Amino acid sequence: MSHTVVKTTPIDGQKPGTSGLRKRTAVFMEPHFLENYVQAIFDGTGGVEGKTLVVGGDGRYFNDRAIQVILRMAAAGQAARCIVGQGGILSTPAASHLIRKRGADGGLILSASHNPGGPDADFGLKYNGGNGGPASEGVTGKIFARTRDIEDYHILEAQDVDLGTLGTSDLGGMTVEIVDPVSDYAEMMEGLFDFEAIAGLFANGFTMRFDAMHAVTGPYAKAILEDRLGAPAGTVMNGTPSPDFGGGHPDPNPIWAKALMDVMYGDDAPDFGAASDGDGDRNMIVGRGAYVTPSDSLALLAAKAHLAPGYAGGLAGVARSMPTSGAVDRVAEALGIECFETPTGWKFFGTLLDAGKVTLCGEESAGTGSDHVREKDGLWAVLLWLNILAATGQSVSELMAELWSTYGRCYYSRHDYEDVDADKAHAAMDRVRGQLTDLPGQTIAGAIVEWADEFSYTDPVDGSTAQAQGLRIGFKGGGRAVFRLSGTGTVGATIRLYLEQLEIDPERLGLTPEEVLGPINAAALEISNLKALTGRNAPNVIT
Ligand code: G1P
Ligand code: ZN
Repeated sequence: MSHTVVKTTPIDGQKPGTSGLRKRTAVFMEPHFLENYVQAIFDGTGGVEGKTLVVGGDGRYFNDRAIQVILRMAAAGQAARCIVGQGGILSTPAASHLIRKRGADGGLILSASHNPGGPDADFGLKYNGGNGGPASEGVTGKIFARTRDIEDYHILEAQDVDLGTLGTSDLGGMTVEIVDPVSDYAEMMEGLFDFEAIAGLFANGFTMRFDAMHAVTGPYAKAILEDRLGAPAGTVMNGTPSPDFGGGHPDPNPIWAKALMDVMYGDDAPDFGAASDGDGDRNMIVGRGAYVTPSDSLALLAAKAHLAPGYAGGLAGVARSMPTSGAVDRVAEALGIECFETPTGWKFFGTLLDAGKVTLCGEESAGTGSDHVREKDGLWAVLLWLNILAATGQSVSELMAELWSTYGRCYYSRHDYEDVDADKAHAAMDRVRGQLTDLPGQTIAGAIVEWADEFSYTDPVDGSTAQAQGLRIGFKGGGRAVFRLSGTGTVGATIRLYLEQLEIDPERLGLTPEEVLGPINAAALEISNLKALTGRNAPNVIT
């Protein structure tokens, strides 16, 4: 088989500091675009000669075609072996696990996470390193630089590899190994959690719905919840992955997982509900008539993780992204363990996990995980919840009530203003930034500002720094507003406004987030002049 060197020109590639590239599917399908980016990944990571790579994705439109290109390019680069999920499928956490378990040099994960899929929607690709986690800033910087000066790429001329059949084959001297995408992952989960106790729950009539949102976790959830744990067939809904996720938006929050919310808030609601996103790293938790915010979920898991065998020894520490609520901080304080506050994005947890400083970590955007892999992990969070429900015999509502009465309740909401003109979004951010030093002491829309700053971070393990990670305003009485620009959108700019208010008064633990957060929202809008500057009267999405 011969290998071709194709002349090419630079692409508008991965932004430095982001952990992958997300674009419209049509852009990825343009001649040479995918190839350029793959070559930039290979070159930016020192070439693939002799290396072992894990390859798989969330099954969205173009997943299989892109994998064929990646395999032919890896073969042209003389990689030793590519380990590929059968049918091209690997959830992001399963890929992270496989990289670690097999001691691979890295992996290419094909996904645009929770963004819709299909020819008119989004596609994505990212490189994870040998620790199984998103590439560091240094590596992504090299990949980015390479996308700008790339002149050619190398690709083998060959027939398609059969992705559907388990086993190994040869592709131009490289071994292609097709593996079951679920079994290694399911085995790891069985080692972490008390499957007998969870199976006992189901055997005693405990009911659950897991919404796989037509995305990658369908096969994982069926194999684990229904086949191994004995949950009745039908527990997993929308469980067959489809290239366009059934035309839906596979983001597990009350807006996009409305079908599940309707079930959980309807008559005869099951005991427990959960959902995961396109690539299986996010999770949503909801009890009977009781939605759990991701920030509260992280706090609850931190408080009760020791009930699961994998965490029986306690937690080394915990970490949360800056915009995530302070609920977990209060649990950590009571446990006497350290709580780290990192910038948004899973990669910042990697060094802390690798150094053994934290065991659990999470983000307000429905990401929770632990040191078992180097990605957030949707099904893992669901299984830890199930283990806690089985061990305590309490319901979701009872657990939450206990958490709030013990530590106080952090009311929380995120308002997204999506697809805003980039200049207008920056104008609103600049307006807030310009007032940071003057705000403390002022009363705005009835709320008293205590402190304000722009979040920056120094990694306690490797000393690397990250600047301009969000504008924070702290109010008297435990309130906080944070402004941040999204780094993952594919169209225009997205302003995220994160609102939080701590309540410790036992009389004020059963209010709605809207009631409690109204004053802080009003103050934040006044400070930013967001409505006038962006022409937006209301957020597109509230979670
Ligand atoms: C969003 C979330 C962030 C998460 C990232 C990747 O990023 O807010 O917590 O790590 O997706 O799933 P953003 O668009 O806010 O930059
Ligand atoms: Zn995801």
